[in-house]
Amino acid sequence: MTKQQRGLIDRFGPWALVTGASSGIGAEFARQLARAGLNVVLAARRETLLDRLGQDLQGEFGVETRSVVVDLSETEAAARLHAAVEDLDIGLVVSNAGTGDPGSFLSEKRDEMIRRFRLNALAHLDIAHHFSPRLAIRGCGGLILGGAMGAAHGIPFMANDAGSKAFVQSFGESLHRELRRKGVHVTVLVVPPTDTAILSKFGLDPATMPMKPISTSQCVDEALEAVQRNQSLCLPGAMNRVMSALIPASIARIVMGKMIEQTLAKRMRA
Ligand SMILES: NC(=O)c1ccc[n+]([C@@H]2O[C@H](COP(=O)([O-])OP(=O)(O)OC[C@H]3O[C@@H](n4cnc5c(N)ncnc54)[C@H](OP(=O)(O)O)[C@@H]3O)[C@@H](O)[C@H]2O)c1
Repeated sequence: MTKQQRGLIDRFGPWALVTGASSGIGAEFARQLARAGLNVVLAARRETLLDRLGQDLQGEFGVETRSVVVDLSETEAAARLHAAVEDLDIGLVVSNAGTGDPGSFLSEKRDEMIRRFRLNALAHLDIAHHFSPRLAIRGCGGLILGGAMGAAHGIPFMANDAGSKAFVQSFGESLHRELRRKGVHVTVLVVPPTDTAILSKFGLDPATMPMKPISTSQCVDEALEAVQRNQSLCLPGAMNRVMSALIPASIARIVMGKMIEQTLAKRMRA
């Protein structure tokens, strides 16, 4: 067992909760936590994927898992999630579920935007509100909140999604300071382009992207290191950190906007 794995089980065991565990970054969080010996609650909408991952983790690492099927864009979802795990001693909550849908703001439907805002922003607020008191009572625990690189500066053609992730970043950094006295580590994972299904959903081709996506394993490994050290923000990938420090927000916005606009145009032609 590595030092990081020992630290995870000692500080956050015996149970972790991961939302958005059915694929991509969330599934990788579940895998790395199970490898460290934590039992894992797997939450998302696609039950078959959650159950399959649970069976894999039980077989491979000898841990317990529990699937919770929940749509986090619904108003009472976090309360239902909380009720489904009330009997478990959860020390680490990874609030990772989220999505985006590039498009022109002028043609977005309000109801659809509100649903995504609930998933990308309010679900994190609700989850933190439900679970933080339990983590504080334990006197040690962790909360990882999933944001997005560039969101704090705004992303044209993803205004609602960027805005909701910007909320998560400010909210998480505030909580980081507030909850440290209670022994609760709070880290915002500022997710950079990462090789998951979401890229093809956006119509992005990793081969032609200006920033090469990192792997889910690198993204999660750095996030777990950061929450153990109680870093308020984690932006995985050295190159992403350099670019973020060097490129002014106004330029980053133009580049991102152009890339998404071109992708949308290609999608229209297809
Ligand atoms: N990959 C990137 O480049 C990138 C960049 C910036 C930010 N992010 C953020 O990183 C997080 C993880 O995304 P990913 O890249 O791993 O993409 P992904 O493979 O599409 O995973 C998204 C996860 O969120 C879950 N989810 C989506 N809608 C949900 C809902 N209404 N209720 C409950 N769960 C829901 C999905 O499960 P179900 O469909 O089974 O519900 C899935 O497990 C997201 O918050 C995403 O916005 C990713």
